Amino acid sequence: MTIASVILAAGLGKRMHSTLPKTLHPLLGKPIVFHALDAVLPFADLPPVLITGFGSELVQEGVAKEYGSRVQFAFQAEQLGTGHAVRSAEELLRGNADVLLVTFGDMPMLREETISQLLELHQQSRNTITMTSVMGDLSRGFGRVVRSSEGKVMAIVEEAVATPEQLKIREYNISAYCFDAEWAWQNLAHLKPSPKGEFYLTDLVEMAISQGRDVDAMVLEDPSEGLGINNRVDLADCERELRARVNRQWMLAGVSFINPETTTVELGVSIGTDTILYPNTHLRGNTTIGEHCVIGPDTSLQSTIVGDHTVIQYSVAEKAVIGSFVSMGPFCHLRCGAVLKDYVHLGNFGEVKDSTLGEHTKMGHFSYVGNAIVGRDVNIGAGTVTCNFDGKTKHLTEIGDETFIGSDTMLVAPLKIGKRAKTGAGAVVTHDVPDDTLVVGVPAKPKERKDQCE
Ligand code: UD1
Ligand code: CA
Repeated sequence: MTIASVILAAGLGKRMHSTLPKTLHPLLGKPIVFHALDAVLPFADLPPVLITGFGSELVQEGVAKEYGSRVQFAFQAEQLGTGHAVRSAEELLRGNADVLLVTFGDMPMLREETISQLLELHQQSRNTITMTSVMGDLSRGFGRVVRSSEGKVMAIVEEAVATPEQLKIREYNISAYCFDAEWAWQNLAHLKPSPKGEFYLTDLVEMAISQGRDVDAMVLEDPSEGLGINNRVDLADCERELRARVNRQWMLAGVSFINPETTTVELGVSIGTDTILYPNTHLRGNTTIGEHCVIGPDTSLQSTIVGDHTVIQYSVAEKAVIGSFVSMGPFCHLRCGAVLKDYVHLGNFGEVKDSTLGEHTKMGHFSYVGNAIVGRDVNIGAGTVTCNFDGKTKHLTEIGDETFIGSDTMLVAPLKIGKRAKTGAGAVVTHDVPDDTLVVGVPAKPKERKDQCE
């Protein structure tokens, strides 16, 4: 059987009170609608059709940038209800697939495995409709699943039109469906508008039953899969739930979390075994952490690579590469392009940007290194600054292996410091320094030091 998929995301999302379309709000670092797309993409034989309406351009642009031609779009000019929304995909999909999988762009908690089970059940049972539901106490405006005395699904009743008796039902529709595709296309055309003029997708259930067809509901064990997003309270609820899911997976895979409630691990992150994450640690983007690391507390790493056995405390890094056996922090900032080789030590208040620090190099106290290539076994004294910017352009500083940079040295780039060279405390170095040479003063000049630099 071939599977086509439709994801509804044309709604206004008014209750978000936002200029950004609802489905583009990030959830654990990834737009809400991407979660919905990722859950169905593995199963769709044709590119899923995303129905857009409000903020259509922004949504299509955001999705196309990430998914390219793996997703197609249909535009629903007027939001006349979920049934009407699915019809917007008819032109693209009718006649091309046996099964029509429908999900909602604002229900990001549905698992890929759940979709897989739903499709399996649908294909085995040969139902006309196979839907999903959860049992629980929270209504959140959900449609109620009406069953016969034998437990057979008979209808979905929307809260807006439900009788007081029906409102007591605690089985809720969570809007992931499989339809016999051709049947759905035929019957969507016959939906009748609700009192408010909306065409409810959910009315197809009663329609199928009245035609003597089979409908079944797969009741999901984890009610969190039914969480949808209408406002920012829902968004925070989903974030908490998803964070817990992801952290739990990492814990089961061998990563320790001292306080998982305050630790964020985004979906693109990977972490090696026996690494410990301390409270208030946030691993974002494509961050990769090796084994036996200690990260945090209060550390935020964005798309940063970390080797094994590295310790990072109270620090921030963005697009940096950190080797193995590095110790860093507290209070360091690695900016884009910072590379710390193995065994580097970065003490408090260090900032590194667009620079490489070689193996075993130490920068213990409040220094700035930008646009620099620093060799191995270099000691960068307290308060050292690469003066890399002349107001117009950034210039390079090169520092050779085993160099000793005295405290409070200003390295005025472009500049090259030779191997095993030294600078005196407070030196302002404006000219290149040869190998094995000591420079001192302002501006720094070579000083013969028979004892050390022969
Ligand atoms: C819908 C279901 C309800 C279910 C609930 C949660 C219907 C009629 N009701 O209600 O049974 O319990 O979801 O799963 O389907 N949308 C469009 N175009 C439209 C209208 C909506 O694309 O014209 C999209 C929205 O962007 C949203 C989704 O469909 O992604 C759901 O719309 P919404 O109005 O929020 O439906 P609910 O009232 O939540
Ligand atoms: Ca909704």
